[in-house]
Amino acid sequence: MALSRREFLVGSATACGTLLAMTVPRSEGLSTSTQGDSSKSLAEHAAAKGILFGTALRGSALKDPAYANLVASQCKIGVPESGLKWEPLRPAPDRYDFGAGDYLYQFSISHGMKYRGHTLVWEQALPPWFHNTVNAGNAKAMMLDHISVVVRHYAGKMHSWDVVNEALEPDNGRPDGLKNTPWLQMIGPEYIEMAFHAAHEADPKAMLIYNENWLEPEDRPTEKKRQAALALLTGLKKKGVPIHGLGLQSHLFAETVVGGPNLARFLDQIADLDLAIFITEMDIRDQHLVGSVESRDKTVARKYYEYLSFMLQRKAVKVVMTWGLSDRYTWLSQFSPRPDGSPVRPLPYDADLKPTPAWNAIAAAFDQASER
Ligand code: G3I
Repeated sequence: MALSRREFLVGSATACGTLLAMTVPRSEGLSTSTQGDSSKSLAEHAAAKGILFGTALRGSALKDPAYANLVASQCKIGVPESGLKWEPLRPAPDRYDFGAGDYLYQFSISHGMKYRGHTLVWEQALPPWFHNTVNAGNAKAMMLDHISVVVRHYAGKMHSWDVVNEALEPDNGRPDGLKNTPWLQMIGPEYIEMAFHAAHEADPKAMLIYNENWLEPEDRPTEKKRQAALALLTGLKKKGVPIHGLGLQSHLFAETVVGGPNLARFLDQIADLDLAIFITEMDIRDQHLVGSVESRDKTVARKYYEYLSFMLQRKAVKVVMTWGLSDRYTWLSQFSPRPDGSPVRPLPYDADLKPTPAWNAIAAAFDQASER
């Protein structure tokens, strides 16, 4: 998947770096040794402060017993990396296949983990038949039917759903900052509130989340996107739409400057809407880093600590999830490989399932967070 313009801008513009805002916790004291405090799992470090920690689940990866045991030992919530998207769920316009989603649900509950759904409405991961079947005349019915059938299938069992994913793109030029997705084109901007109402009707118990990417970097293009997100969520709340939280995906570049006054103000404005904040897909890309593995690992760990400590200063942050637990199965190997061809190292366990300094950094950030 090629980098979007935003991802390229974020990755390169921040390479020159800018002054870190005063609110970013210092990380000098952080021990980035690889000897994580393994007496407790990351989930236990988090739970001690009332935070739920987990990761994205990939069926093929969980067939690796060592990795499956690691996920089960470290996590208290799981989310399908892809299993509940339209492509695997919808082999045909009139058929649903819950095989992947049910497998990951069974894995989660059999290991005492909660389960969250990702994602009901997105412009990507659509099945091959979608674009020549769904049109302005049937898109609303197709979307609402999908939400109703899928959410009812897991009703009462789902911790939360990413109802709508990545619906914003101010660069598309709309005053409301909405992305020009097929859903917007075929249904109109009200598709978002329709999706949330349908999900709530199908499972009143599930928390309903709006999930978005690239809201974290402390730079001007991102500020435009944050303002669009705030306007969207404020509008939904004003209309009484059943929305319970914002998911910040938190796919960061190691050199991204995060944790400044712009993000701080945004998080407080989101919390003032009585919305929870979930960190839904956290990983820290070492794609542009140079130097030894040890020095790269320390830079990645430092960014985990700085970002997570900053975010956890807000008690609205209730859930923290990484996008995979080990470099052995990260999407970044395929979608953001290092130019020098060396393995990427974005996650708290390396490809040999050994804890990296990032593990220590995440544990330290939980330990230093206030209870919620
Ligand atoms: O399942 C098929 C398999 O049958 C086939 O043989 C194979 C051929 O390449 O493709 C498999 O599907 C792949 C799928 O992941 C499952 O592994 C798709 O090609 C591939 O495009 C898909 O990529 C996922 C991507 O979302 C698109 O759905 C990544 O693994 C996943 O990490 C990524 O996650 C997204 C979040 O959902 C939303 N936020 C951004 C994040 C990163 O892009």
